[in-house]
Amino acid sequence: MNQTAAGYYTDKFATLPTEVTPVETAHRRITTPIPAPETLDALAASRELFPRVNQYQPPIVWDRAEGFQVFDAAGNCWIDFSSTAVMTNTGHGHPAIREAVARHAAEGLLAQFTFPSQQRVDLARKILDLSPSGFEKVYFWTAGSEAVECALRLVREFGRRQDGGKDHVLTHAGDYHGWTLGATQLSGRAPGAGWLSSPDQRIHHLPFPGPPDHDGLEDPVAFFDESIARLAGQGITGDSVAAVFLETFQGWGGLAFPTSYIQRLREWADAHDVLLVFDEIQTGFGRTGRWFGHEHYDVTADLVCVGKGLTSSLPLAAVLGRAEVMDLLEPAEITTTHAGHPVSCAAALANLEVIERENLVAEADRKGELVAGELARLQARFPDRIERVSGRGLMWALHVCNPQTRKPDHELTADWTWAAVCRGVMLFHTMLSTVKVVPPLVITDEALVEGIGVLGEAMESLC
Ligand SMILES: Cc1ncc(COP(=O)(O)O)c(C=O)c1O
Repeated sequence: MNQTAAGYYTDKFATLPTEVTPVETAHRRITTPIPAPETLDALAASRELFPRVNQYQPPIVWDRAEGFQVFDAAGNCWIDFSSTAVMTNTGHGHPAIREAVARHAAEGLLAQFTFPSQQRVDLARKILDLSPSGFEKVYFWTAGSEAVECALRLVREFGRRQDGGKDHVLTHAGDYHGWTLGATQLSGRAPGAGWLSSPDQRIHHLPFPGPPDHDGLEDPVAFFDESIARLAGQGITGDSVAAVFLETFQGWGGLAFPTSYIQRLREWADAHDVLLVFDEIQTGFGRTGRWFGHEHYDVTADLVCVGKGLTSSLPLAAVLGRAEVMDLLEPAEITTTHAGHPVSCAAALANLEVIERENLVAEADRKGELVAGELARLQARFPDRIERVSGRGLMWALHVCNPQTRKPDHELTADWTWAAVCRGVMLFHTMLSTVKVVPPLVITDEALVEGIGVLGEAMESLC
């Protein structure tokens, strides 16, 4: 393990405090070397106590966060372009969520398991009212990966009961669905499921109908038909497929599917009794300027997985669907002790009310237009280093390439990330060649424009 002064957090970020130009604006404040000297003990202890696998974010010791800003204990303040991990849709520590959690902690249940409560009913009704596909049931979990596992189990059960049985499951190259056993195999960019002694042979990855491999695709419908024909050549037809999973917008690159592709997929699924499962764990609850990302495609879903922005804070996830699919499992077949935890449910109820009250879905859509313009200008300034800008609402990614080779450049991405962090914009490191711009939906227009300006300064410093 490399823990030298030059390398820390996967060798990309400086361990020792870097002298930086002080910054003080209405939104950012950097007045110490970065990381702040007073936070070095916590960083050293983190390196000692936590596994290396968890050490890949910029080494800033978060002390508190409010709205769209993150603070360290030295009083440095960042504009947050990470939303932690595309999660704090209503911002950090929204007062309404803090109040609901505090009230619940003082007076409500702290443990519940699958015993019923009025609160869980209220939350389920609220989520179903917001969901566009005529869903009837909510299956609560704690983490997004669990919701994906549950959806996988449900679709396999659905397929098993069809004439002749259907148990193949399709997903797309580049998708991310989580790190648990099933979810990692559904993820089309899992770094090899080589550690598995018996990988699931009935999960298949269709090529993604767009960048990076199929940029400028002219006929997405024909592309879909060809992918399906290729599968049929391997003996896998619609009649043997239980479901298709999709990450509604691929999070790593802010990449949308072509609408005509998704509509063709929906037609094909209907013709073959195949379920469409939209993974909205990252895109749900306003992130893309709609309540759910798949609304952009004007299709219905059979199952939807949600998490992250459902609470903007505490752990909670869910699968949403129609009763005929959701009721396929027998009582007690799968659940976990903390699924639908009551304190998380309190946070979710308050969070959803904030999204409605503050009109954050429409705001994300409007701010998305602003971001699109600013990022296009940024790309025009560094055309040899920013290959592509993609996204919608407040879910954007800048695809970084090497100015000489024009190939994805992980090194430059990491350097750019750190240079921005040293100037007061908090980014999370994707470990890929994209810089994600995914701020809380409550960010102000001024802070958005300022933060994107800082990305420009940071890149300039690397030229
Ligand atoms: C699209 C998507 N699916 C699934 C997951 C897994 O969710 P969790 O990290 O809560 O297990 C994530 C997390 O980043 C995600 O972005």
